[in-house]
Amino acid sequence: MRHLISPLDFSVEELDRLLKLANDIEKNPKKYSEACKGKKLATLFYEPSTRTRLSFEAAMLNLGGNVLGFSEATSSSASKGESVADTIQIISCYADIVAMRHPKEGAALVAANNSSIPVINAGDGGHQHPTQTLTDLLTIQSLKGRLDNITIGLCGDLKFGRTVHSLISALLRYENVKFILISPTELKVPKYILENIEAAGAEYKEVTKLEDVIGSLDLLYMTRVQRERFFNEEDYIRLKDSFILDKKKMKLAKDDMLVLHPLPRVNEISVEVDKDPRAVYFKQAQYGVYVRMALILTLLEVEVC
Ligand code: CP
Repeated sequence: MRHLISPLDFSVEELDRLLKLANDIEKNPKKYSEACKGKKLATLFYEPSTRTRLSFEAAMLNLGGNVLGFSEATSSSASKGESVADTIQIISCYADIVAMRHPKEGAALVAANNSSIPVINAGDGGHQHPTQTLTDLLTIQSLKGRLDNITIGLCGDLKFGRTVHSLISALLRYENVKFILISPTELKVPKYILENIEAAGAEYKEVTKLEDVIGSLDLLYMTRVQRERFFNEEDYIRLKDSFILDKKKMKLAKDDMLVLHPLPRVNEISVEVDKDPRAVYFKQAQYGVYVRMALILTLLEVEVC
């Protein structure tokens, strides 16, 4: 039995197979429409979500399976003090696979260690968000045609942005990926991520101004400032509008630079950018359904001929 807790839980070859499966699902959705008939996905969301929870549920429904779960900790027995370890043992009796989001770093690993069904980390605090990374990789591979030889700018809250941490870890396994880390000084990427980049021998640069580097990028990965992870509101207010991508800045970018964003967006991308063909963040959310379908099939070891 396998879980997905970290973006590195799959080898590059396994990832390649997963992305190919997601591409086939996109092209031939009918072929997969009964692949998980009789199977159940539990979504345990102790933190708010729109895309991750609903795309997991859509994925399982598209595969002909069923879904159950909760969307906030207060409507579960966590509010009475039940531990993640106990909850997961109970859910193992009700479902075949579980996707869990939790505000505490490491919670998904605790769940996996106590589970008799596959556990998918749907985000654990400021740590990792591996299924967003699968979504990002599928988007980049499908729309850019490659995962290597790219210069990617990651912009915004690089300290608390778990999608950024997971994406950097995943991209470090591909050849010649250069990272331009664009953030206010207070929201720089954590030291352990920089150490990982250095250990992998990848090139990186830390900067504070988007307009200075946007012209050199193949991909721009925007992120919001993560209000829920700040210790005080004053700091959030001071930093929340550090970067706003607008038409003027897009004029400085290459014609084929793609703009990704895990969403939700707050202010960091002006809505005027949405119509720019280089803005692919809504397509990215659609890719999230295909890749989660591929992930469910893979972890449940369901083969479709
Ligand atoms: N990208 C993402 O994780 O979005 P949600 O918080 O809406 O799930």
